[in-house]
Order: sequence, then structure tokens, then C-alpha cells
Amino acid sequence: MKPMSTRRFLQIAGLSAAALLLAACGKKEEAPAPAPVASAPAPAPAKVYVVGTDAAYAPFESQNEKGEIVGFDIEVVQAIAKKAGFEVKFVNTPWEGIFNALAQGDRDMVVSAVTITEERKGTMDFSDPYFDAQQLIAVKESSKVAKFADLKKLKVGVQTGTTGDEAVTKLLGKTNTNIKRFESTPLALKELEAGGVDAVVADNGVVIHYVANNPGGKFKTVSDKEFVPEQYGIAIKKGNTELLQKVNQGLAAIKADGTYDQIFTKYFGAPPATAEAAAPASAASK
Ligand code: ARG
Repeated sequence: MKPMSTRRFLQIAGLSAAALLLAACGKKEEAPAPAPVASAPAPAPAKVYVVGTDAAYAPFESQNEKGEIVGFDIEVVQAIAKKAGFEVKFVNTPWEGIFNALAQGDRDMVVSAVTITEERKGTMDFSDPYFDAQQLIAVKESSKVAKFADLKKLKVGVQTGTTGDEAVTKLLGKTNTNIKRFESTPLALKELEAGGVDAVVADNGVVIHYVANNPGGKFKTVSDKEFVPEQYGIAIKKGNTELLQKVNQGLAAIKADGTYDQIFTKYFGAPPATAEAAAPASAASK
């Protein structure tokens, strides 16, 4: 697996060790409640948050042979949870309904290589960014495609409702029937292999991973500076500032203590690159 090329690493300025408030556990002498417990009260169980993820997006989230949800995003959230003192339960959730499930409270957060966009910020909150990404084109080795604009007259596969879908929709036009929308990114890439589409546009990490792991598909990738830099964030139900703060604190802590770099290296072969090798300073606003 090739390491990802460009990682701008966000600096964490002075992480303040936020003190956890422990409820004072003095003995209750006049407990009004019946049957006071003699021994020290057990600590309140950690809260379990339900995390939605579309687990068809390796290496960020996928299911292993045992059906367990694994991946970079999963380990990042697990590490955050450990630092911030809460528990998480991952639930495989189709991309198309994922933000609805969040808005309705069926999920407390979504980790799914979700790009932070202004539009999405209208309906959900985002953690601080945790990963830099960009769209990348996958084509057959024999393809003449050399840049994004070359896709204009071709059949292009995307995952419905992703930033790849948005980019292609902008280039080809909203009603263009040459845009083939799929439920998942692997399905779009399978269709490329089968010849049903001429190209697929999706997140670079996923495309690189797929191409590297499917040599039989005879794919190549084409990058283009036209694609705007993207950043992934953990989406949190709008208004849940308590959870948002915990997640941001946990994220800052795992970046500060090297845990984030360890996970990054495990999945991408090298620690995140520093800014100069990376894409131009991200235009994405906070
Ligand atoms: N980063 C892209 C977006 O936010 C694609 C994410 C798709 N993630 C997934 N697990 N299917 O639109």
C-alpha cells in the first residue's frame, strides 16, 4: 500500500489538561433514599455513544472477515473516546441515510470520511478536522484521461451524495445522464472494472487503496489540482456541544501524545507529512 502523499498536520497549541470533574464521593450520612449502600458507590458507567459509519470505505472504515467494523476512522474515534472518557458503539449505516440518522438522533455522531462542507454545517456540527483529502480520478490503464476536464463527455461513476458526486455534477451538469451514481464507492469502482463507466471520482485515500488492492482491475489514477482540498471531520448531532467539546479535546490529546500519528502510520505507511509537501494550505474554512 502506498503512503498517502500529502498530509498537513494541524498544530495543537498548548493542550490544557482539562481536569475531569469527579463527583465528590463522600459518604452520604443521611441519605433520604432507602437502603443506602455501605460500600463506596461504583463510578457512574461511561456514556456509550452510537457512531454511524458507512463501512464500505477502506481504509477508513470497512468490515473484516468477522464482520467487525475496522479502519483508520474507527481507531481514531476509539482513541478519542478513551482519552475523553466515553464509550462508543459503531453501527454500519448506509451513506445515503447517514446524516438523517444523525439529525434524528439515531446516531450521536458519524465518522465516515465525511468532508467538512459549508452546506453540511447547516445541518450538523463538525469536530476539528482530522484528515486532509482530495478527489482523485480512477480510470483504466489504457485510458487517455489526463485531467478532470477530460471527463466532460464520458460516463463517470460516483457515490451518491459525496463530494465526488458534487464535483462531477458541477463539471457534467446536474441532469447529465452520463453521471452514474452508486450506493457505495466500491460498487462504482467495480463498474469501472466491468467497463460500465469510463472513470470514477472519489476520495484519494479510498481510490489509492482500491487500485493497490485490485491489480487485476488494471486501473490507474489521475490527479488534478482543480479539485479543492477537503478535510474530514467527525459529524455530531447539531447542538450537542457537550459531545463536540469532548471529541475535540480527545482529538487534540491524541494528536499531542502521538497516538494519532501511530494510527496514521499504521494505515498509510508513514506519519503525516508536514505542510510544505502537502497541498497548498487548505482553502477550506473553519
Ligand atoms: N469524503 C466524501 C464526502 O464527504 C466521501 C465520504 C464517503 N464515506 C463513506 N464512508 N462512504 O462526501
